[in-house]
Amino acid sequence: MKTRLLFVLLLAIVLALILKYGANAAPIAYTLPPETAAFPPGPNLETVMNNCTGCHSADYIFIQPTGAKFKEDFWRAEVNKMIKVYGAPIADADIPKIVEYLTATH
Ligand code: HEC
Repeated sequence: MKTRLLFVLLLAIVLALILKYGANAAPIAYTLPPETAAFPPGPNLETVMNNCTGCHSADYIFIQPTGAKFKEDFWRAEVNKMIKVYGAPIADADIPKIVEYLTATH
């Protein structure tokens, strides 16, 4: 008998708490940081933006090291890797355009 009374009491308290706080639970609003990553101007910029922004930011591309080894061959291999390894849907005709841009701007 006592146990049932305690249970009912507990239920009433829980219900009261849900009514008091549950209804006031405001949705949490997030303000995302501004997209600071941007592609510098260069040849075929639009093609690059159309093909290289779907999966990661521009930052991801431009944090690559620079130097003699990171020229056209490197970027051609990189674009082909995006296509073959990660499945980026890039048209064959766009590959040289993208490589030209990356070589010129990096
Ligand atoms: C289909 C999705 C997709 C698209 C589209 C894409 N990438 Fe990537 N990219 C990836 C993934 C996945 C990684 C690897 C992430 C990791 O290693 O954590 C990556 C990594 C990179 C890296 C870092 C080095 C490396 O080899 O991992 C560079 C540079 C890069 N991408 C350049 C490009 C360029 C340039 C384009 C446009 C031609 C492009 N990506 C388009 C998926 C994509």
